[in-house]
Amino acid sequence: MKIALGADHGGVGLKDELATHLREQGHEVSDLGTSGSASVDYPDYAQAVAAQVADGTVDRGILVCGTGQGMAMAANKVPGVRAGVVSDTFSAQMIAEHNDARILCLGARVVGPSLAQAIVDSYLGATFEGGRHARRVGKIEPASGS
Ligand code: RB5
Repeated sequence: MKIALGADHGGVGLKDELATHLREQGHEVSDLGTSGSASVDYPDYAQAVAAQVADGTVDRGILVCGTGQGMAMAANKVPGVRAGVVSDTFSAQMIAEHNDARILCLGARVVGPSLAQAIVDSYLGATFEGGRHARRVGKIEPASGS
């Protein structure tokens, strides 16, 4: 899979660990930063990753900040993108299978590295089921012309 990663200063350490983990698994990782400990603004990274997901440059995105919450709020403003904050493996599977969430958001101050890896593996191992879930997901999108 092609996967875009993004993080702010609160998530950069976990993001870098996940990049290594994903590359070891054979995924093609596009690391969109941040790359150091300097304080940055999480919407900049959420928007960069969400743009690549929305235009099909990558299959999935993973965003990491302190809680995952700000990243999800920002990513979900990008048309066509659905992002979910997850701190357990079951929800990680469900946001892919039922919600067709193309972006997973993690809180580096919420989950440790081992759990984060398990969450990512569960998320990337799951695919959208379509059917009734496609109808429901379709109702999330803004009506055309609005
Ligand atoms: C940065 O201190 C923190 O606010 C950010 O990483 C994130 O948790 C926001 O949602």
